[in-house]
Amino acid sequence: MNNDLYAVVGNPISHSKSPRIHSLFAQQTGESVEYTAIQAPLDDFAGTVSNFFDRGGQGLNVTVPFKEQAWSLAERRTPEAEKAGAANTLYVDGEGLLTADNTDGKGLVTDLTTNHGVDLRGRRILMLGAGGAVRGVLAPLIAAGPAAITLANRTVSKAEALVALFSPEAGNVELSACGFETPDEPFDLIINGTSASLQGDLPPLSPNVIEADTVVYDMMYSLITTPFNQWALDHGATRVFDGLGMLVEQAAESFRIWRGIRPQTAAVMEELRND
Ligand code: ATR
Repeated sequence: MNNDLYAVVGNPISHSKSPRIHSLFAQQTGESVEYTAIQAPLDDFAGTVSNFFDRGGQGLNVTVPFKEQAWSLAERRTPEAEKAGAANTLYVDGEGLLTADNTDGKGLVTDLTTNHGVDLRGRRILMLGAGGAVRGVLAPLIAAGPAAITLANRTVSKAEALVALFSPEAGNVELSACGFETPDEPFDLIINGTSASLQGDLPPLSPNVIEADTVVYDMMYSLITTPFNQWALDHGATRVFDGLGMLVEQAAESFRIWRGIRPQTAAVMEELRND
């Protein structure tokens, strides 16, 4: 029997861990899945997607810089994708419509709550960044029931725009926006959703946002401690996590959407750490 075909699309793509993660999921569940990586030309994401589905592809993951285009291209969007403004999962639904989902937020929340035992209810969260990555995770984070989410960003107006966008559905969760210099009190959880470390930068935060039991989470994943997590450790944090768990959990959620079975993730994370 031929395997069903899946892939991750991005540009660049050669460093993607998704093929490795999904082949471990396929092995573990016994599902007939073949998962490859496709580098789409920067000016032809749409052509790459239609080509893939035309030759019988079953589902795509989408990564930088195409997540917003994947969202636009879709003929149908799940509520998660709709609010995220970006999609990381595409498939053709039962009615033949190209459907977009976004599993990043669920991946983050599952990693925090299930893998790291962080209860988000009633917590005060400092979220750094206001780009696509942050927008993509806000709805599931709000749904987890924290007391407050403070969005701090270099460009404050972008944080304010996200507060305006998510406030109507925030319920009792207090949302606010500010620059990096403003927060001066300890938070229960600090999440770095900026891409500052790609330029070797750190957001200029006061160390007063950290106390010993502050949980610090960098959505970036790195073989060594990320610069942001190192900064947090240097200022007294004791519980710091990188985004490997989020990466594996968002993949597991995509796999579940496509195959109807959710793989176990712990062993896969272990394998990746040892790669
Ligand atoms: P992504 O999809 O990774 O979110 P993005 O939408 O370009 O990419 O957003 C990048 C985020 O990282 C933004 O919040 C950006 O801040 P601005 O909105 O002010 O641009 C933030 N960022 C990028 N480089 C940064 C740096 N050197 N210092 C601080 N924040 C930075």
